[in-house]
Amino acid sequence: MRLATTTRILRADEQAVEEAASLLGEGRLVAFPTETVYGIGADARNAEAVARLYAAKGRPAFNPLIAHVPDLAAAEQLGRFTPEATRLAQTFWPGPLTLALPKTFDCPVAELATAGLESIALRVPRHAVARAILENFGSPVVAPSANRSGHVSPTSAEHVLADLGGRIDLIIDGGPTSIGIESTIVALLGEPTLLRPGGVPREEIEAVLGQKLADVQSKEGSNAPLAPGQLPSHYAPRTPLRLEVNQVGEGEALLAFGERLPQGADRAVKICNLSARGDLIEAAANLFSYLRALDAVGASAIAVMRLPRGGLGEAINDRLTRAARGS
Ligand code: TXA
Ligand code: MG
Repeated sequence: MRLATTTRILRADEQAVEEAASLLGEGRLVAFPTETVYGIGADARNAEAVARLYAAKGRPAFNPLIAHVPDLAAAEQLGRFTPEATRLAQTFWPGPLTLALPKTFDCPVAELATAGLESIALRVPRHAVARAILENFGSPVVAPSANRSGHVSPTSAEHVLADLGGRIDLIIDGGPTSIGIESTIVALLGEPTLLRPGGVPREEIEAVLGQKLADVQSKEGSNAPLAPGQLPSHYAPRTPLRLEVNQVGEGEALLAFGERLPQGADRAVKICNLSARGDLIEAAANLFSYLRALDAVGASAIAVMRLPRGGLGEAINDRLTRAARGS
């Protein structure tokens, strides 16, 4: 995969902000400070940019990402706000609170960025540099913490460089972040639930809501919290999936990869090719929308070709295995 690149560092000023916005528009990856931790930003509407972002982080699975916007009006284009959500946004935005809400019907954020979920996590950061980039770019930016998967979140440009140097295009250096822990995540998808403790204390949120926040419980009934990304059930097609096929059966649809199709491909009800040229970044970018498209044709099964396991292949195979299990 084409990950290696030269990582430039620019001190945060007006010109750096313009450069950041222009690179984002070209689908590139730009790390920038927020008041919590540094994030790696990508154009939320550009599925290939989002795929590159997962690859740069080295995530073995597609965790849904937070979409960052400059204000409540921009957030309302992406998520459906209940009165409680609006009250929380008006009280804590801009600031270290992320709200998980149902997606709007015409939400322009790439399916890969929300890992195919019907919900979306939204945040309006307070940091002047983050705000300037978002305003200048004028479109939502997904930004996970700017660390390699499994490492701690970065609170300085040096941390970002140590973890992601050579894997992203630009780092905007705005000095150390002030809060140093990630945003608090609250889901308003039913009972208000605390998905991740963070920069806004739970008591302050409960005071505004006038009720306690539920906690994330693991399915096994123990009190161990689930990782936030595991709480919402992931998108799973209704049509059964058959993995690593060598042959397409009667009435089946085909999810292909590469230029050589399996036997019987000519009788497939419908074919979507994740990447005819065998590029895993392109495949990741197409994965969720193609699964949905094939799920919609009423096939007896979706036959899935074998995909390589390296790089983004690990996350793609993880998602396909779960979809085949129906989880
Ligand atoms: O402070 C922060 O929030 C930082 C800065 C850069 O803004 N960002 C950050 O992003 O911490 P990340 O990707 O490292 O963590 C985002 C968390 C993940 O645990 C993910 O599972 C959860 O948000 N998440 C995203 N979308 C979600 C959704 N629709 N429902 C539930 N959880 C979601
Ligand atoms: Mg993180």
